[in-house]
Amino acid sequence: MGLKILGTGLYLPEKVVTNEDYTKIVETSDEWIVKRTGMKERRITGEPTWVMAKKAAENALENAGLSPLDIDLILCTTVTSDYITPSLACIVQGAIGAKNAVAFDINAACAAFVYALDMAHMYLANGYKRILIISAEALSKITDYTDRSTCVLFGDAAGACIVTSSEKKFASALGTDGTGANTLFARRPLNDIPFVEQADPQSVDHFPDVNRPGVLYMNGREVYKFAVSAMSHALKDACEKFGTSPEELDLIVPHQANLRIIQSAAKELGLPLERFFVNIDKYGNTSSACIPVGLAQLDAAGKLIPGKKIGLVGFGAGLVYGGCVFEL
Ligand code: UT7
Repeated sequence: MGLKILGTGLYLPEKVVTNEDYTKIVETSDEWIVKRTGMKERRITGEPTWVMAKKAAENALENAGLSPLDIDLILCTTVTSDYITPSLACIVQGAIGAKNAVAFDINAACAAFVYALDMAHMYLANGYKRILIISAEALSKITDYTDRSTCVLFGDAAGACIVTSSEKKFASALGTDGTGANTLFARRPLNDIPFVEQADPQSVDHFPDVNRPGVLYMNGREVYKFAVSAMSHALKDACEKFGTSPEELDLIVPHQANLRIIQSAAKELGLPLERFFVNIDKYGNTSSACIPVGLAQLDAAGKLIPGKKIGLVGFGAGLVYGGCVFEL
């Protein structure tokens, strides 16, 4: 059994932040950011995450021609939930009036949309009919705007996708390496929970102030190395399970962390860069929202063509990665 996309949606805040804007708050340049990341702009908002999620969800429902009452499961992904509890999914369920839907969140950082789609696939096999996945990220809330190595990378966005079951095939490959938990993290501002000191004490030394809760820290070089191999590994693995090869994929929507990571993965897979959807120049890294926003943009452009094979691939804090392949 596979899955079929019934509708996609997105919400992109209006406020644009350019590379030039960062030169006013940290020591950086447009040239450095473009050359090292491919980013030129991102969007930022002061809205709560649930408001962004609601807007993307309503956009997807409208595009699918469905009522909130048609949805029987809502899966939300975010690293910037407004509440510790309840889940973002519960808040959105109430806000859009999807009273027939079960709702909960999935915590898998930038790979979470792929994890959610994989979970949706299993729930569809168990009888659920129409599943709404929403990935909403207000990364500006956890960004340290004094740290030039991270603040230029992140933006805010929400993407949504409604799926149902289909006769076509779906395959996925997910993976986790928890020993890399301290290469990319944000701690809850709760109390003195000790920092996870494992695996690589060097990566703890990398951060100037790991005890400051609530903001995102990243050892960029370590995550970069992990990302390139995780991306090609996940896609190859998902293709193998599907019974195809990366060359047979018509389109790949990758997590948008760094253009150089996408270029390196394309090279490692022996694929032309044109096969990969890229919008990193406009929106930067919006964590788990990158992939569904990409899907919604492709959908709006009429590029999600039935019969084509698509690959999605993400990686992020955990460390986690996930790839999936399905026929549209
Ligand atoms: O979605 C979650 C996953 N996140 C990622 O996958 C991000 C993965 N990592 C990356 O994309 C890259 O490692 C970065 C874009 C974060 C950094 O690029 P890099 O080429 O790995 O740079 P680097 O960390 O090796 O730093 C090179 C230099 C350093 O200066 P020195 O020590 O050589 O003097 C940095 O201090 O660049 C400096 N630098 C900057 N310079 C100007 C770091 N950030 C900036 C900046 N502007 N914004």
